[in-house]
Amino acid sequence: MNIIPAADYQDMSHKAAHLMIEKIRSNPDMTLGLATGSTPKGVYDELIKDHMENGTSYKRITTVNLDEYIGLPPFDPNSYRYFMNSGLFNHLDIQQVNTHLPKGDADDINQECQRYEQLIKDLVDIDLQLLGIGQNGHIGFNEPGTPFTSRTHVVKLEESTRKANARFFESMDKVPTHAITMGIASILDSREILLLASGSAKAEAITQLVHGEANEQFPASALKVHSNVTIIADEAALSLV
Ligand code: GLP
Repeated sequence: MNIIPAADYQDMSHKAAHLMIEKIRSNPDMTLGLATGSTPKGVYDELIKDHMENGTSYKRITTVNLDEYIGLPPFDPNSYRYFMNSGLFNHLDIQQVNTHLPKGDADDINQECQRYEQLIKDLVDIDLQLLGIGQNGHIGFNEPGTPFTSRTHVVKLEESTRKANARFFESMDKVPTHAITMGIASILDSREILLLASGSAKAEAITQLVHGEANEQFPASALKVHSNVTIIADEAALSLV
């Protein structure tokens, strides 16, 4: 694992965006795996700024996101589809049909998991997968104990994950209890992985990722078996490493 230290959130976002823009420019047909959460928000703002100022084009780019809450329709401001449209896609020249997220309001959720996994397979490979990390080491919504062989599936969210994400919702009881997530094996199929972390709340998780053994109780440790992983983390997130 290659670790790129950053001074703070802004510097982390800048370094990650720079790396992504270079790859998009040299491979304008690439498939990007994208993530939600507060961590990648600054990267998306930089991608938008670069698109407007330098004209980097996303016309032929395909995106696949990691996860979506079950029960939230795409127009719900807390759905990940809404987050991606309003925070990135609507500001680029990307074709909406080429942006993919699991459908959290699908009638048949198990069938939706199969459709999404097939879609990832049909795209051949994700060229670059962006990841955040949960405080308990979750990637996407793969909670501790998820097999490293898992494919797209339904998860029951841990209370700690619901609490960590409750800040976006009116009240705790509005935070969904379940989500659809790409599995760990689906994530590991990506050619390259870029994991971002910012702030002291992520310091323990980053230490465990860097120094710990691969272990299903700590989902991010699956990345240890991947040959092309870069972590960009700020000083606070690296403070215990
Ligand atoms: C959510 C997302 C993850 C994300 C994590 C951390 O649970 N499903 O993909 O990495 O939160 O979020 P944040 O970046 O807001 O700390």
